[in-house]
This record gives sequence, C-alpha cells and structure tokens, in this order.
Amino acid sequence: MSRTITGATAVAGVAGAPIRHSLSPLIQNAWIEAAGIDAVYVPFGPCGDDFARFATGLRGGVIRGLNVTLPFKEAALAVADEASDRAELAGAANLLIFDENGRITADNVDGLGLLGAFVAQAPAFDAKAGPVVVVGAGGAARGAAAAFLAAGTPEVRVVNRTFAKAEIVAGALGRKVRAYPLDAAARAFEDTTAVVNATSAGLSDELLDLPLEATPAGAVIMDMTYKPLETPFLARARQLQRTTVDGLEMLIRQAGPSFEAFFGRVPPAGVDVRALCLAALGTQA
Ligand code: ATR
Repeated sequence: MSRTITGATAVAGVAGAPIRHSLSPLIQNAWIEAAGIDAVYVPFGPCGDDFARFATGLRGGVIRGLNVTLPFKEAALAVADEASDRAELAGAANLLIFDENGRITADNVDGLGLLGAFVAQAPAFDAKAGPVVVVGAGGAARGAAAAFLAAGTPEVRVVNRTFAKAEIVAGALGRKVRAYPLDAAARAFEDTTAVVNATSAGLSDELLDLPLEATPAGAVIMDMTYKPLETPFLARARQLQRTTVDGLEMLIRQAGPSFEAFFGRVPPAGVDVRALCLAALGTQA
C-alpha cells in the first residue's frame, strides 16, 4: 500500500475484544484505497470494562467514527448522546459517529447487513411472506429480530435454550415476537420462511440437533457465524437442500453503510471484498 498518512488524514476504525482477526480493516481500507480517499481505518482493542472511557476520549473530531463489535455493542449504545430508532430497538449499536462538536451518535447497521445478505444469497426470500425464526436470545438475536420486524416480517419466533431470555426479547420487541423453548423448535420451524442462527454456539451439539428438516423445503437457513464460513449448521442445511446465507456476507453488507456514514459516499464499485475476506480467512484457519 502506497498511501501516505498526514495530519489531514481522516481516521475511522473498529473497536472490539478480541480485535486481532477482525476483517473490517481489510474491507474498509480496500474501499478507501480504491476510492482515493485520504483516510485510514484502524483496529482498536480497548480493555474489558473500559469502552465508555475509550469512546469518550475520542469525542470532538479525533475520529470520524467507529464500528463496534463484541463485546461492546451494548456499551456503545449507552455511551452515545443520541441513537437511531433501529439501534434503540436492537438494544445495541455497531456504529458510532463522532461529530466535531463532541457529540456521539449511535446507529446499528447490522440489520441492513443481515437483510442485504439475504438479498445477495437468497434473492427469492421475501421478509414479508411469513414467520421467521431466530435462534438465540442475546444481542445478535435481538438485532436480527428487530431487523426482520422493520422489514415487515409478520411474526418472529425466538427459539432459545434459556426460555426466559427468549421471553425477554419478545417482551422488548412487542407482540409480533414469540418466544419458544429449544424443545419446541420443530413447531416454530414448520411454516417458517427462514431460520437464522444468532447464537454464539456454531459448533454445539444442541444446535446440530435442531430439527431443520421440519422447515419447509423453500426455507432459507442463515448462520451469523463465519468461522468457519460453512458452519456445521449451514452444512446440515445444505444436506437438506435448503438455500443458505452466510455470516461473512452479513459482515460485508453492514460495512457498506458504515463506509458511507464515515466518508459521505458509497463504497467504490469493483472491489471484490468477499474474495479478500475469504483469502484472509484461509490464512487464519
Ligand atoms: P450475543 O451478544 O453475541 O448475542 P450472548 O448475549 O452471549 O451473545 O448470547 C449468546 C446466545 O447463544 C444465547 O442465546 C445463548 O443461549 P442461552 O440464552 O441459553 O445462554 C446461545 N448459546 C450459547 N451457547 C449455546 C449452546 N451451546 N447451545 C444453545 N444455545 C447457545
């Protein structure tokens, strides 16, 4: 890379812990370079409880903005002076914009990433056509449920190992969201248009035991995890000949709106960021 960093170079970045294997710097810097913008996108790994102090220290023109990943998404929402409706609904932020007057605005474009990944990899999927199942009841699951509701999904079924947590998500998002325990998954699946794995347990036996065969043949199966790209959950879905959507596409599809928020323009066309990410995942494996 032949870019020169000067005092005029705009800075954006991503904060998470661990951050070392984040693919966001790869994606954003490829776009920055192709667009010829005087900017740089850097990884930050603040220590455990220090996110608020870290973010507060960046107020007032130090940085254009930050993507935020695990485990700081809830803390990112809390530190902001204002937040978009979709960030409030998701209960988490993955994007913070810092203005020169010191204000921090929170947004959440993970939902755009999720829906964009469906458009890219399951173009026949219609969010409005029927119930969608989200497996898991943490921040990622709540964000996914909120995104489907915003896209017009008539009912979102939250299936979770700990039923009480599924009920909390349903309570937070309103009456179109229903909670199901894991052992009622077959009932939740039977007339569903899509199942999204939003748990942190891509490799667990419990998830492999989920009765994906109970989904209609046209249902789309998605896994938010992308390490490995084809998780055991997606491999099972493929065996059942279901259309699948992977978590890498979601990451890439949320990166576009983030770039736009940082730099005021859409990412340049013609950069194969998916190929860059696949190459990087290959070397990390
Ligand atoms: P995140 O913020 O990434 O969503 P989280 O809040 O820790 O992470 O939530 C993780 C989710 O994965 C939870 O829904 C969790 O289920 P519980 O609520 O029962 O803990 C789910 N999860 C984690 N490991 C799991 C496993 N082995 N089997 C099934 N679900 C699992």
